[in-house]
Amino acid sequence: MDNTALENRVFNPPAEIAENANAKADIYEWAKKDRLGFWDAHAKELVTWFQPYDKILDDSNPPFYKWFVNGKLNVSYNCVDRHAKSNRRNKAAILYESEIGKKVCLTYGMLYREVNKFANVLAGLGVKKGDRVALYMPMIPEATVAMLACARIGAPHSLVFGGFSPESLRDRINDCGAKVLITSDGNFRRGKPFPLKDNADKAMEDTPTIEKCIVVKNAENEVVMKEGRDLWYHELMATAANYYEPEVMDAEDMLFILYTSGTTGKPKGVVHTSGGYLVQTQATLKYVFDIKEDDVYWCTADIGWITGHSYVVYGPLALGTTVFMYDGTIDYPDKDRMWDMAERYGVTKFYTAPTAIRTWMKWGTEYVKKHDLSAIKILGSVGEPINPEAWMWYRENIGHGEAPIMDTWWQTETGAHMVTPLPGVTPLKPGTATVPFPGIEVDIVDENKNSVNEGYLVVKSPWPSMLRTVYGDDNRYIDQYWKKFGDFYFAGDGAKRDEMGYIWVTGRVDDVLNVSGHRLGTAEVESALVECEEVAEAAVVGKKHEVKGESVCAFVILKDGFEGSPELIEKLKKHVGVKIGPIAKPDDIIFTSSLPKTRSGKIMRRLLRDIAEGRAIGDVTTLADPGAMQEIAAKYAGKE
Ligand code: WTA
Repeated sequence: MDNTALENRVFNPPAEIAENANAKADIYEWAKKDRLGFWDAHAKELVTWFQPYDKILDDSNPPFYKWFVNGKLNVSYNCVDRHAKSNRRNKAAILYESEIGKKVCLTYGMLYREVNKFANVLAGLGVKKGDRVALYMPMIPEATVAMLACARIGAPHSLVFGGFSPESLRDRINDCGAKVLITSDGNFRRGKPFPLKDNADKAMEDTPTIEKCIVVKNAENEVVMKEGRDLWYHELMATAANYYEPEVMDAEDMLFILYTSGTTGKPKGVVHTSGGYLVQTQATLKYVFDIKEDDVYWCTADIGWITGHSYVVYGPLALGTTVFMYDGTIDYPDKDRMWDMAERYGVTKFYTAPTAIRTWMKWGTEYVKKHDLSAIKILGSVGEPINPEAWMWYRENIGHGEAPIMDTWWQTETGAHMVTPLPGVTPLKPGTATVPFPGIEVDIVDENKNSVNEGYLVVKSPWPSMLRTVYGDDNRYIDQYWKKFGDFYFAGDGAKRDEMGYIWVTGRVDDVLNVSGHRLGTAEVESALVECEEVAEAAVVGKKHEVKGESVCAFVILKDGFEGSPELIEKLKKHVGVKIGPIAKPDDIIFTSSLPKTRSGKIMRRLLRDIAEGRAIGDVTTLADPGAMQEIAAKYAGKE
């Protein structure tokens, strides 16, 4: 359904927020008149530099842009030292609760101490500036400590989401050549311990660069500690020295690598650097969530995704905010767990994903109504388009009918918010991320780069927190993001513009799926499927799903001599889960004897999506065998 045409509800900013907001309407004028001056002012205001930069932007070698040229800083210094040495010393930096109810509070002073000690631990194991460190961790304070300790040494970290399989972890470790892996004995999921270290052990069977593995004791799981390789975090910390001099880093030195799915089977290591990233994550958080000194800020994203990096760790801690962190499922022991915590901690800013909102909607309002959420002032949404119905439910029930919703469009690659409202300024419409953040130039263009009202979402000029390359593969960086439009960044999303000029992101236009806000390449799932001895060929598409946004739907051709059966469907699903991770498991597997292909052999996924979503099949004239669609459609109908 085209909701851009249907949606005409407009919600103005609440007067109380508008009056005291960090960002007033004139911020757009300022950024428009003097884009680089706008970023320059924020770089000066929000970052403590060891040495000032001599140029704001170096665009002499596109698309390899440099921001805050020759500026020197340390990101961990900005996130902890400067607060620990101020009157924020005893302010809570991290409030943490585990699923089974363990509670931790780390003040900025305490966090500073932990980060310094762990930097000494890493340095003691031979980690130096430039060495890569892999993290495979639950949402525990030690994960934040480890990230900041890496930043302190100047060793780029690469986090791998705890839900990924041993193979996915292994591939990512090997791609970046990590020297150390930091993991945990596990964490709790629905009251049961989840064996993270066992997965790490499987991955480390084939990771030649890993020298040491540091294990945080968290779940009291039995783990095997390999002599000479595996070390306990708490034992190392017990004897670590209290101070580690922060490494002087260049603005363009690498801060981290984060892998994300692309259009080919191999995930890309997105590279982020230090200066620009720290400027834009802070500026966006300050204005979009209107961060104030007494906020209790909760972003529910896992630390293993970009939202966790930018808006659980770096942005909020650099601003000296109190961050609440929860490690566990959202319905344990009951479906009101989230609201129970939001009430107990007095959460004021809450940032989550549409898939979670749709889950809460399905459960009904009784769980929310049990709790007093009146402290909540601003809500956020990220990860996929939010449907107007979910938007309204979120505002009514979590935002007590008045909290503005910041629908933030951005990506692993953009590092920070790009298209988003501002809470005190932007009239909101349910379902749209509205307008570009000040200082960001976004447009919608057609194949020929003309500005249009429906087409490809692009960024027209470099921005501070942009990715700098794909780790070890500059060509892939160019091909993926810059080949299509030259000097415009191609985001891979489609978008529409409405009569107010608001941007409605409609979803990926490339072969990337968005399942519960997680990016998955169709090629990744397809290559997992064809690894099975029964499978000759596979094509994967995203199918609209009420809660997940999209679910994985696979069309599979079997090799001669094999027959489709419910057992085989289960086997293939399980294989994908083991190979990539549970999020990649197909909901539907359909056996067919052919796939719709163009004469040049390219699979027409658009047509398969038509079948999966029950639409009339689109234009088949470019197919090599137009009749193929009939058979597939019949097979699909038979399945249901
Ligand atoms: C999608 C997550 C619509 C989009 C920060 C993008 C969104 C991909 C929104 C990036 C939004 C993210 N509205 N779509 N507010 N936010 N997306 O790299 O397709 O995990 O390209 O970064 O999620 O996913 P990633």
